[in-house]
Amino acid sequence: MNKKDTKRVVKEGYARIAKEQSCCSFACCQSNGVEYSNDDLRLLPASVFSLGCGSPLVYASLRKGETVLDLGSGSGLECFLASTRVGESGRVIGVDMVPEMIKVAKTNAEKGGYKNVEFILGDIENLPLSECSIDAVISNCVINLAPNKRRVFEEIYRVLNSSGRLVISDIVLLSELPPSVKEREDFYIGCVSGAMLKDDYINLIKQSGFKDVETVAETTFPLEQLSANTAEKLVKIASVTLQALKPQ
Ligand SMILES: C[S@@+](CC[C@H](N)C(=O)[O-])C[C@H]1O[C@@H](n2cnc3c(N)ncnc32)[C@H](O)[C@@H]1O
Repeated sequence: MNKKDTKRVVKEGYARIAKEQSCCSFACCQSNGVEYSNDDLRLLPASVFSLGCGSPLVYASLRKGETVLDLGSGSGLECFLASTRVGESGRVIGVDMVPEMIKVAKTNAEKGGYKNVEFILGDIENLPLSECSIDAVISNCVINLAPNKRRVFEEIYRVLNSSGRLVISDIVLLSELPPSVKEREDFYIGCVSGAMLKDDYINLIKQSGFKDVETVAETTFPLEQLSANTAEKLVKIASVTLQALKPQ
């Protein structure tokens, strides 16, 4: 798949998921990396669904009054959890490139009465936000889907305030994928085929200017949970949560 095809496949895949409002056998949903408490989750509207592979907000240490950006906000789960943490004086912005997903998130925001949350249609490779306008960028299982990950980290760096922080959960590879997996559109939408090797991913964050890059959570799982094919069973992938700082 070339980069243009990849974006189309991802857009069509997540438009479908937004309409069906459910996950299936994707890596994100299989990773067991979500650690939010029932106390957090029970306050959300019932129509909010998770496609995430981790819990970035557990590590983001959000404070009242902060401005938070969620990349690939899906049905809005992280944005609504962040809304309570930053309070009325804070602001939460969710960006997603799929109009159907933005519509679901906006409906959920209305249902839950979240006044400090807004959802913007946009591509995380070209954020519709001004520079140095955000205190914390969070993301849950999204950057693996972007064909140009270097560009995503450069964009995060641009919009963060100096001393701003990045806390992201994502799927990474612990060994190279066989071509049989790499070429499959369903595995791309399912957060596997677009994933990078863990060390390359961390190096990309460092090369984009971030310091203090640290893995704060990691869950490893074999691809056999997603596939019946023997060659694919040998592949190991992980859900990681990473944090990093933009230097002053
Ligand atoms: C696996 S889902 C995760 C959704 C949400 N973060 C969660 O945890 O439930 C990936 C989301 O990222 C969005 N997405 C994928 N590529 C994107 C891009 N380049 N720019 C903006 N959103 C993107 C999809 O539309 C989808 O809503």
